[in-house]
Amino acid sequence: MQQTLILLKPDAVQRRLVGDLTARFERKGLRLTGLKLVQTPRETAEKHYAVHKGKPFYESLLSFLTSGPTVAMVWEGREAVAVCRNLMGLTDGAKAPPGTIRGDFAISVQNNLVHGSDSPENAAIEIALWFKPDELVKFAPTDANWVG
Ligand code: RTP
Ligand code: MG
Repeated sequence: MQQTLILLKPDAVQRRLVGDLTARFERKGLRLTGLKLVQTPRETAEKHYAVHKGKPFYESLLSFLTSGPTVAMVWEGREAVAVCRNLMGLTDGAKAPPGTIRGDFAISVQNNLVHGSDSPENAAIEIALWFKPDELVKFAPTDANWVG
């Protein structure tokens, strides 16, 4: 079963959208495996977005991600990485289609509410960056016959 890291970025928390956004992942049929509220240290933000180091928006992105609390979540399910990216929509909220999180709630490129891992390999790296092993909870889903 695939896992992916989802962040509800500081704009999601400040705009009180945590409940609405979490519900979208939950109702899709993904299983929650980890969940916490984090005041992100700069070092974690740097590691998380290391691939963007040197780009014009990098410093602004780090300031954004460390500007307030972030909700970090691990979701598990069939094709979880791609499923979550589809739920999120395109990076630019102005271009993301309606029905997606960014399409419905964001109009900015930077302040686009959510992060989702872009490959299973990066998901494993990102989950290890944001969660300790004992913060992830395995449980048997009782609705697997209907959702799985
Ligand atoms: P994420 O990593 O947060 O899931 O977003 P993504 O894959 O859709 O987009 P990515 O290219 O990885 O960019 C990471 C985050 O940087 C901010 N960004 N700002 N031109 C800009 O000002 C710009 N481009 C990207 C966004 O917050 C984006 O989610
Ligand atoms: Mg990305």
